Amino acid sequence: MLEIERLTRRFGEKTAVDGVSLSIPAGQMVGVIGRSGAGKSTLLRMLNRLTEPSAGRVLFDGTDITALRGQALRDWRMRCAMIFQQFNLVQRLDVLTNVLVGRLNRRPVLTSLLRMFTAQERAMALAALDRFDLAETALQRADTLSGGQQQRVAIARALLQEPRIILADEPIASLDPRNARTVMDALRGVNRDGITVLVNLHDLATARDYCDRIVALNAGRVVFDGPPPALTAQRIREIYGVTEEEFAEEAAAAVGAPPPRHPAIAAA
Ligand SMILES: Nc1ncnc2c1ncn2[C@@H]1O[C@H](COP(=O)(O)OP(=O)(O)O)[C@@H](O)[C@H]1O
Ligand SMILES: [Mg+2]
Repeated sequence: MLEIERLTRRFGEKTAVDGVSLSIPAGQMVGVIGRSGAGKSTLLRMLNRLTEPSAGRVLFDGTDITALRGQALRDWRMRCAMIFQQFNLVQRLDVLTNVLVGRLNRRPVLTSLLRMFTAQERAMALAALDRFDLAETALQRADTLSGGQQQRVAIARALLQEPRIILADEPIASLDPRNARTVMDALRGVNRDGITVLVNLHDLATARDYCDRIVALNAGRVVFDGPPPALTAQRIREIYGVTEEEFAEEAAAAVGAPPPRHPAIAAA
């Protein structure tokens, strides 16, 4: 159970995240939506302490994450893997090594990469790649892969951390629809294994299709929190003051994503 209590982050005069409270049971898949600047990335980054909160707390299974220091903080970051819009692979390294990097957080010095990994770790990495149909790419350089393949490599790398939570910040914003689906299927698959997933999405239709729960942010605050069917086109209009089509187009443009597919909008 992840408990977020009145979490707040200010940047100067600006309050990026403003008193957000959420209780997320283990194994849930939560989509976070909102306009550009709503606070989605800041919220996710505070959960693994890439950004420090100004106020509030995060508890994971009763442990106060916001108070962790040193090794305990490094352990938490292992348990709480991040996925980014730009995949963040080391382009000139091969795919297998990129996945094995997921094991490195424990190790202080990064030297002679390949000799540092055990046979068991290499088997784990290959199994993770195989799961996403990427085993045959293991020895290719990362930059020979498509965006969708690279993002699945990033998910495989995250799995090598043996995470309890995956935090994905706009994981499909740079992908075409087909690749976006393979990546969302991969995230949903690992979620079904029991890993909690929090995913920032610019695309409402994807959030509806894949998530158990949608949290909508506006100006740093939670303005909707419920199951996808409850987030009707009417609710979107009430919350954001624009039609769902307008919201979708604006959100896609903000992350440089292709224009949204024709929205299949639930009747209000
Ligand atoms: N490092 C930073 N310094 C100053 N302002 C920031 C910083 N990070 C985010 N912000 C501001 O906080 C607000 C929320 O940003 P962000 O969390 O990136 O929103 P989103 O991911 O929803 O687009 C924005 O107004 C943004 O400009
Ligand atoms: Mg963002």
